[in-house]
Parts: sequence; C-alpha cells; structure tokens
Amino acid sequence: CGIVGYIGPRQADELIIKGLERLEYRGYDSAGIAILNGTLNVYKKQGKVKGLRKLISDKDTSGTLGIGHTRWATHGPPNDSNAHPHTGETGRIALVHNGIIENYAILKAALIKEGHTFSSDTDTEVLVHLIEEIQKEGNLRLSHAVRLALNRVEGAYAIAVIDREDPNVLVGARKASPLVVGIGEGEFFIGSDASPFLDSTKRVVYLEDNQVATITLEHGLQLKNTDNEEMPPFIQELDMQIEALEKEGFDHFMLKEIYEQPKTIKDAMRGRISSKDGKVWLRGVDEYANRFVRADRIIIVACGTSYHSALIGEYLIEELARINVEVEYASEFRYRNPILTERDIVIAISQSGETADTMAALHLAKERGALIYGIVNSVGSSIARLTDAGSYIHCGPEIGVASTKAFTGQVTVLTLMALNLAHRLSTISNTYYRTLLRELELIPGKVEEVLKQSEHIKYIASEIKDHNNALYLGRGYNFPVALEGALKLKEISYVHAEGYPAAEMKHGPIALIDENMPVIVTATNQSAYEKIVSNVQEVLARKGRVIAVVNNGETAIAEIADHVIHIPPTEEPFAPLLAVIPLQLLSYHIAVQLNRNVDQPRNLAKSVTVE
Ligand code: G6P
Repeated sequence: CGIVGYIGPRQADELIIKGLERLEYRGYDSAGIAILNGTLNVYKKQGKVKGLRKLISDKDTSGTLGIGHTRWATHGPPNDSNAHPHTGETGRIALVHNGIIENYAILKAALIKEGHTFSSDTDTEVLVHLIEEIQKEGNLRLSHAVRLALNRVEGAYAIAVIDREDPNVLVGARKASPLVVGIGEGEFFIGSDASPFLDSTKRVVYLEDNQVATITLEHGLQLKNTDNEEMPPFIQELDMQIEALEKEGFDHFMLKEIYEQPKTIKDAMRGRISSKDGKVWLRGVDEYANRFVRADRIIIVACGTSYHSALIGEYLIEELARINVEVEYASEFRYRNPILTERDIVIAISQSGETADTMAALHLAKERGALIYGIVNSVGSSIARLTDAGSYIHCGPEIGVASTKAFTGQVTVLTLMALNLAHRLSTISNTYYRTLLRELELIPGKVEEVLKQSEHIKYIASEIKDHNNALYLGRGYNFPVALEGALKLKEISYVHAEGYPAAEMKHGPIALIDENMPVIVTATNQSAYEKIVSNVQEVLARKGRVIAVVNNGETAIAEIADHVIHIPPTEEPFAPLLAVIPLQLLSYHIAVQLNRNVDQPRNLAKSVTVE
C-alpha cells in the first residue's frame, strides 16, 4: 500500500492526490484521503486514485494538514468501507496503514467489549479504535496515544495519523514497512517512499523500525522510539531526478523501462568492469572476499521476477566460480527451518528492497550467523540497510509493476559477481575470463539491436494474442528466461502461461499442445542446440505453433518455426540478458492489444510489504 501525508502552509489535497498517483504502483485497489480543517473530512473509494480525484472534485477538501492512502487489499475485499483512511468511534482520528496487524482479532474482541463498533473488515480499523480508547483513558496527546497503542500491536506497519482534537500535528510510525519523512521549507511530508514529494524536497529521514515521528510546524520533526526515547533524525539528501518518475513520451512505464535497458545494464556495470585491465570489482564481494571464497554454499532468496534472476545467478556462479548455489523462494525458506551455518552466504535479490517475505528470510539468515548480502535497486531501502554488504543495481526507479530493467540489472550484477569469484578462485582460464569480460561490455549495444525488433514482435503478438494459453521453453541459461517470459505474460495480459525446461516438456505439458497452444522457444544456446531443434520438432508434430528466439544467421529452427525473432549471438552465460528482451516486448504488445492495464495489472502490486 502507499501512504502520503502533508503538513505545511499549502493546500494539502492536491499534494496528497498527486503523491498517491505516484505511489499507485504499490497498490490500487482503493484510495482515500483525510483532511483536517476544523472538521475532519474523509473521502475514500474503491478503485484507482483517478476515481478518488473525481469523487472529491465537488467536495470540501480545503485544509493544510492531511493524509492519503492507496491500497493493496489484505484483510477484506477492496470496497469503499475497507478503503483507508479509517476513523474510530468518535470520528476524531483518521489513520492510514500499510502492513498487517497480526493480533487484530484479540484486540478487536477486547474493544468490542468496551463498546466499540466496527464498520470494516480491516485490521487497520482496530488500530484506530485502540488509539482512541487509549486517548480516552488518559486524555493523551495523539503521538503519545499512538506510541502506547503500537506497544500493544504485533505485526508490521507504516502508519500516518491525524486528530481533529490535536489539529497541528501529523504522526507517522513504522515497523517492518517503509516510511520516509520529507523535510521541505516550512513544510513536511510523509511517504511510503520519497516519490510523492520529490519535486518539493529531496531532504529525507528514513524511519527505523519502532520509531514514531511527531511533526508540527512549531517544533519540526521529532523522533522517538516506542519506548519513549528521543532519537536524533538522520537527514539524507536524495540524488534522484523527478524525470525518472515520468513516462518521457512512451505510452507506458513498462515500455520506457524496457527501452532503458541498454543504459541501465551499462549503469549496473559502471565502474565495476574493465576488460582492458582484466578486472571486475564488486565492493561488497571484494570486502568479504574471504567469506566468499571459503563459502560452503551461497543461498539466494527472492520472490517473483527477482527469483528468476536468482536462478540465472545459480547457473552463472556454479558454472563459472564452482561454488555451490541454492535458490529458494523467500517465503518457503523462512518457514522451513533451513539448515544454515556461518560458512553460508545468503543473498537476497529485490528490486524494491522492501518485499516482506525476502526481509523475513534475511532476518532468519542473520540470526543464524550467515553473511547476508543484498542485490537491490532501491537505494536506502530496508533490505539494503539490513544486509552486511551488497551491490545496488543502479537502474533508477522502476514504476511498471511488471519488472523488466530491474531483472536485467540483477542478472548483470550476478554476472559480475560470478566473474569476480571465478577470477579469484581460478575456476576458469584466463583466456576465457578475458573473452567474457570483453563480451559483457558489448551487451548494452546488443540489447539496443534486440530492441529494433519491437515492430516485428508487435506483429507476432497480434497473431497469437487471442490464445488463452502459452508455453515457454528454454534449456540451460534460457530455462529461467522461459519462466520469466511466462510470468510477464501472466502478469500483464492475464493469459495463462507456463515456463518449462525444453526437454521436460515431453514429461507432461506436451499433452496440452495443439493448434491453440503457442510455444515460445528460446533457442540461442550453442550447446545442446540439436536437442532444442528436436524439442521444436516435437511441438510441431502436435500442431503447436512455434515462436522461436534464435541467434542471427541461424537457420535450422528458423526454417520450421511459425515466427522467428533474431537476436545477436553472445557468450552462452550472457544469453539471458539478450533473450529476455523479446519476451518482455512480446508480453507488452499482447497486453496492449488486449487492452490490459499494462503498468498496473489487476490484483498485483509493485512492492509487496506484507507476508
Ligand atoms: C511483486 C511484484 C513482482 C516482483 C516481486 C518481488 O510480486 O509484482 O514484479 O518481482 O514482488 O519484488 P522485489 O521488489 O523484491 O524484487
């Protein structure tokens, strides 16, 4: 979910609505706003911020202190009454929340006994009532009551709260869900991230877990922990351009981000590779080189697209550096009491750096003494701060919910890591190492070449868009690429798709193949090439329609496939960086042709900060 808050001299409504539009990638099931102006005016609506904007167009939203929310539903369906802000019994307090209050049922039962009635199914409403109850008992100021209430809450939260009876204060707090305060000229903002207020200020304070921020125009920002100890705020200056949050002429953020990849891959490599000197630097790895070279195992935990880049990391690190690698869904890892020792390294891959499952897996790994390492895009995010060391992928903000440039950024960093370790461990020959370095530097240019295929891919999309299923196949490095291609199609076009190792197809999915099943085969491999040709034959023999991604100049598959997408050849370990691009474009064009909401597909959110 996304949170915005404002206190200052300006009208709060437009600032909050604009901020929510920027945060919509965090969820868009419903949206709401609360503004104080003598009275507390609360408006909320199921659906996107656009609907909220329309709803309030003829309402009184004047006032210079307010909060807003855009929701990704956890407790209770996305309807008007479950939308935030929530108000309590007397309607004096309004609160927005991201996270999950785990003990809400117990708290709710106790409050009902005290005479409270509830109008939503949410865990959040329980928190508002609890704050109100505490306030009533002790006649307390808002921030005091919030702090006491949070001491009774289990779970995760980022919240922003305002109070009609304490009308000059904006209160925020966090535990395990991100919250940042923006410090402007005589005004303050709260956000789930800095994007809502980046055009007003770049001076920010990231809240730590268990911190409560009390913001007044008179005293500015005051931070305490939930034990009532003062904490000095650590102010940072962000180096982020507002243009990075705009579409720059592209129809969708996703398309813009696909096209940014030649640059973002280069940015991920910047200052980290020199083929001339035969060097790959990766600060985190270099600092902990001893741990890496002596590691029994590297375990990579991640979710979604980041999980697919982790799988490619496994192929890369095992093949090149000969270190044992395991990849696991973060959500599984943390709940199965995994075997971990101090000789293990746990790497978390996360675009947002806020994914709750990935965070939880890291906490567990840290507790058990493993070295924890982050491969993260979002600078200063929770995962980046938790890890012992790490490498940012430097892709800039990714707004489209379906991840594209972050994926290639992650794969680039994993490639650098594998090369760095391979060189340290002398697991590949110097000649091969040098060849790989030279080739890696050529990848951004080759991605540029692949992007030129967009119109051709758009045509292929029009040919297959009306099918209800698709199968993605690949072998070796291209197997995770097949998984990622299928995920992209599912996410944004709602077409059922599966990714499979090409040879595994004959053990099940082959039963699904007929003339209505497009099969997208990524066949850029030099090794096992003949085997892939046979896999394609097997599909064709069952009347499946084959769309093949092959290297320039290749003919064996090109002659038999229904459609072919040619891409420049590269060294096999780098194949995913090129091969994934046509698959991203294919799902993009299919989604557009099916009139789907490409940047904000239904039910998904960019950053899932609940478990
Ligand atoms: C969500 C997004 C996915 C993303 C996954 C992991 O489910 O919709 O696109 O891959 O989270 O996110 P992370 O920020 O940890 O990479």
